[in-house]
Amino acid sequence: MRNVVITDMVESETTVVLLSRRGGDSLALEHRQQLAAMADVKAYALEKPPTRRQARELLAPADVLAVTNACLPVLDDDLLGRLPRLRTVVLFATGHDAVDLEALRRHGVNLIAVPDYATVSVAEHALGMLLSMTNRLHLANDRSLGRCPPGVSLRGVQMSGRTACVIGLGRIGLHLCSLLLALGTRVVGVDPDPLARQCAAAAGVECVGLVPGLTVADAVILTASRAFGDPPVLDRERLRLLPAHAFLINVGRKELVDTPAVIEALTRQALRGYAVDDVVINPADRRGNGELVRTGRLLQSGHRAWWTDEALHRGTYLWGERIIAAIAVDPGAVPARRGGEAE
Ligand SMILES: NC(=O)c1ccc[n+]([C@@H]2O[C@H](COP(=O)([O-])OP(=O)(O)OC[C@H]3O[C@@H](n4cnc5c(N)ncnc54)[C@H](O)[C@@H]3O)[C@@H](O)[C@H]2O)c1
Repeated sequence: MRNVVITDMVESETTVVLLSRRGGDSLALEHRQQLAAMADVKAYALEKPPTRRQARELLAPADVLAVTNACLPVLDDDLLGRLPRLRTVVLFATGHDAVDLEALRRHGVNLIAVPDYATVSVAEHALGMLLSMTNRLHLANDRSLGRCPPGVSLRGVQMSGRTACVIGLGRIGLHLCSLLLALGTRVVGVDPDPLARQCAAAAGVECVGLVPGLTVADAVILTASRAFGDPPVLDRERLRLLPAHAFLINVGRKELVDTPAVIEALTRQALRGYAVDDVVINPADRRGNGELVRTGRLLQSGHRAWWTDEALHRGTYLWGERIIAAIAVDPGAVPARRGGEAE
């Protein structure tokens, strides 16, 4: 087995292009130093994904693309076809539904994501959103600031003794189930993966099908993963199964839900509230659906669930490790030979 000593690396033919909001500062110092010794690193600080043309220029020399979800260009056949050097994408994200894996496969490009860095943070965020909806916390704060319209009731409900349906019993979903069970909430869970259901059942979750889960729920919480191009798990028809008093919480992707159908259900009072870790409507829209935000029936947290000290620290570290690993296995990386030997 070859023992590659990273700090002994000299002249590497590997080029890493790094795209993130903070450029090279997105990495831990020790990883920046290791990477500098291993590869030619071109780091760019971007506010948003590069345009198609920018992407072609920036990524042209890349053997490895290290990128955050916020700066991810559209990796389609057209772009990938112009990047013959590219071998690996290292994505700072757990969910990789923005990446067309089939297109990567067609062009021989590997994807490395960062699972499990934010599991606890996202589960706690989901619980926070649920309790904010059920206790009307966001509205109570708005009222103290004089921003809650008169006539909006702050009367809440308890989750203890009620039923929550968790859709997606993976890492985040399972941790959330344990938090909900500790509150005294009955938890039913939905997942197509038998192993996930087995783990959840062992933790005290009643595993059910989607239709029965939706119909018995006082709250439905989406923690499912999503694959590129998948249709919503909760489409218009399935949303109709939710009781009118139910709350819907979504810390997965906004595309897991048919958003226009949810907004319509909220407007018709066929759903009590929707909390989503994204932004799906503009609250400044005075004539349109902004009213749903002002009356607290729609709570939007703008993809902040993972944004905690712990998850940021862990995610940064794991991302750096994976970039280093991607270079270490890259044929362009040339290890220095101490005394002419490499083990
Ligand atoms: N909001 C955030 O900040 C944030 C942060 C990290 C992850 N996420 C999202 O959370 C998702 C889940 O993360 P995880 O670490 O728990 O992933 P995971 O892979 O451990 O679990 C996902 C589970 O969802 C299940 N699933 C897939 N499709 C389903 C469906 N149609 N119905 C029911 N279950 C389904 C899978 O079988 C799997 O058990 C990620 O894919 C990502 O989209 C959001």
